[in-house]
Parts: sequence; structure tokens; C-alpha cells
Amino acid sequence: MKLYEFRETQGIDSLMLVEREVPKAGPGQALIRVHAVSLNYRDLLIAQGRYMRGLKLPLIPMSDGAGEVVEAGAGVTRVKRGDRVAGIFMQNWLSGEVSAFYARGALGGSVDGMFAEYVVLPQDGVVHTPPHLSYEEAATLPCAAVTAWNALTTWTLKPGITVLVQGTGGVSIFALQFARLAGARVIVTSSSDQKLKKAEGLGASDLINYKSTPDWDQKAVELTNGIGVDHIVEVGGPGTLGRSLNAVRVGGRISLIGLLTGPEGTVNPMPILGKQIQVQGTFVGSRDMFESMNRAITLHQLRPVVDRVFPFDEARDALRYLESSAHFGKVVIRV
Ligand SMILES: NC(=O)c1ccc[n+]([C@@H]2O[C@H](COP(=O)([O-])OP(=O)(O)OC[C@H]3O[C@@H](n4cnc5c(N)ncnc54)[C@H](OP(=O)(O)O)[C@@H]3O)[C@@H](O)[C@H]2O)c1
Repeated sequence: MKLYEFRETQGIDSLMLVEREVPKAGPGQALIRVHAVSLNYRDLLIAQGRYMRGLKLPLIPMSDGAGEVVEAGAGVTRVKRGDRVAGIFMQNWLSGEVSAFYARGALGGSVDGMFAEYVVLPQDGVVHTPPHLSYEEAATLPCAAVTAWNALTTWTLKPGITVLVQGTGGVSIFALQFARLAGARVIVTSSSDQKLKKAEGLGASDLINYKSTPDWDQKAVELTNGIGVDHIVEVGGPGTLGRSLNAVRVGGRISLIGLLTGPEGTVNPMPILGKQIQVQGTFVGSRDMFESMNRAITLHQLRPVVDRVFPFDEARDALRYLESSAHFGKVVIRV
């Protein structure tokens, strides 16, 4: 079988196509023919050696993949041959609150990921994908979608609240879709008027170009009659957090998810205290969250926004495309 791996992480060109024997499903495991993987910003950081210290190498990358069970090992009851499944991001986090142990089993990071024609996963490490989704669509769910779902649904996502999402990448577009499902008002910021137009098509009611309106925090406060936004999906990190603290309402919530503006910076914490803001770090989510999200996706026949699908042998081009930030929603590779 063919698979991609990193033996070193010196940039996108470190991604190597290699051949290996098809693995076998042991007791309690499923052999999956992967049909699609989706890219996350994390995969870029891994390629560039910027993700985490002590990354396992060689590493099969990509946390997100969907495929079909082709063999179920002895004692497997959760899935059977022919089932359409996706791997869960943190292989050990099935339910309940996160712990240090759960965070250690992340696909495509601390353990091998999904970027292979065949992978073996424990039966507990997969979920059935929503039946109306193609493999390309289902492959977008494990990281970005579950993160957006966790961020929004573990707080007060309900009709009428205002949610602000930053940019139009994978996490933010899922957050927009889930917030609209729940009847929330969504403000979207983007560097591109064209992308804002697309976000409007998905139900965003308020659009702010953060390049032409760098004071987007003030604009968000104006849009909410001086009150501020209930919930902000924060993917920028140090370069945007200060403005998010300005834009959120007294008693509101910021889900801190990403560090697109870099890992370092200075943020004045005073508004957190003064406005009693809840700043919640969010790291993907559990299998239970993934399954409840899938129920909602199925019930509402929601379709992930796939910007572009690349062929298997153009994996480096796909990563470069993600790096360019030209995408809206998710970038996928067919396997
Ligand atoms: N904590 C977790 O569990 C978790 C899970 C998934 C992702 N993440 C993190 O979340 C971040 C987003 O991930 P992703 O996979 O959704 O990335 P992505 O698809 O690559 O999204 C990139 C988009 O973010 C927007 N952006 C960039 N800089 C921005 C800024 N200063 N202000 C507002 N928007 C900005 C841009 O949108 P426009 O082109 O529209 O401007 C850009 O196209 C990354 O830092 C990633 O590592 C964390």
C-alpha cells in the first residue's frame, strides 16, 4: 500500500510517499481502507517542525480521514465490514472531561495518522460517519468540526445569541454552520470580501473585513447595540485575543482554539476580570461529542464546506494551498 510519512519536518517537501505492507487488524481492531483525508492548520505546523517537541518520527500525518472497514479483528462489535467510519482525533478520549492521558493519543501527532491507503485503529477509536456524506465530506469532521462543536455546545448555544467567528478556515466555517443550526446570529470576520459573501450564503448576518476594518472589535460592539458578542470562536491567538476581549459582552465567553497569529504576544488580562469573561481553551473533543455532532449533521442533512479536493499524488500541493489561505472551509485529499 501507499502512504505518506514525515521522516523529518523541514517543511512541506519533507512529506514523502512510501510503500509498506497492508497492516492486519488484531483483536479489537478494525482495518480501514481510507478514501479521503482532510487538512488542518496543525498539519502545516507539523510539516514545518513548529507543532510540538518530541514529535514521533517517522510519522504518518493527518488526524482526519474517512473510509470503509474492510476487516474487523476478533472481538470487534462496534463496527463491521463495509461500515463507513472516521477516526477520532484523540484516540483515548471517548467521553467525559479531558485529561492528560486522553490528550496523548492524537492521530497524526503523538500516534500515526490517517494518510495511508489502509490504517488499523482500535474499534473504540472510530465513529460511523453521517450516511448522507461522501468520504470527502466525512473526512473533514474529526478535528475542525468536533472542535467547533465542542466550543459552541458545551456553553449556551441557543437561538438568538450572537456568535463571532474569525476568518473562514475549517474551524470557523463549521462554527458558523453549527451556530446557524441552533438559530444563533453569526458575525464573520475575514480578510476577503469575496469570502464574506460566501459566508453570507451560509447564513452569516453580519460581515466584517478585518483588513479594511482593523477595529473589528468596535464594529462588533456597534452591531450588538453596545452590548458585545455572547461567544467568540477565537482562532487568531495573541494577535486577536485583545480585540476579542473588547468585543465580547460582560459575562460572555471566548473559546480559545487557535494561534494563527503565532504563539507569543502580550494580552492585557484586565477585561477578563472586569467583564467576568469566560476564556475557555478548547482542544478538539471526545468521541461522545463527535457522535452527538454526527446526529445533528444527519438530522439537518448539513454538508461540510469542501473548498477543493486534491488527488493523492498532489499532497504537497494541497498543503501549499492550505498555507496560501486561499481556501474557504476545508481542503481534502482523495486517497
Ligand atoms: N484547539 C483545537 O482543538 C484546534 C482544532 C483545530 C484547529 N485549531 C487551530 O485553529 C486555528 C485555525 O485552524 P483551521 O484548521 O481552521 O485553519 P485554516 O483552515 O487554515 O484557517 C485559516 C484562516 O484563518 C483566517 N485567519 C488567519 N489569520 C487571521 C486573523 N488574524 N484574524 C482572523 N482570521 C484569520 C483566514 O481566513 P480569511 O482568509 O477569511 O481571512 C485563514 O484563511 C489554527 O491555529 C489551528 O491550529 C485548533
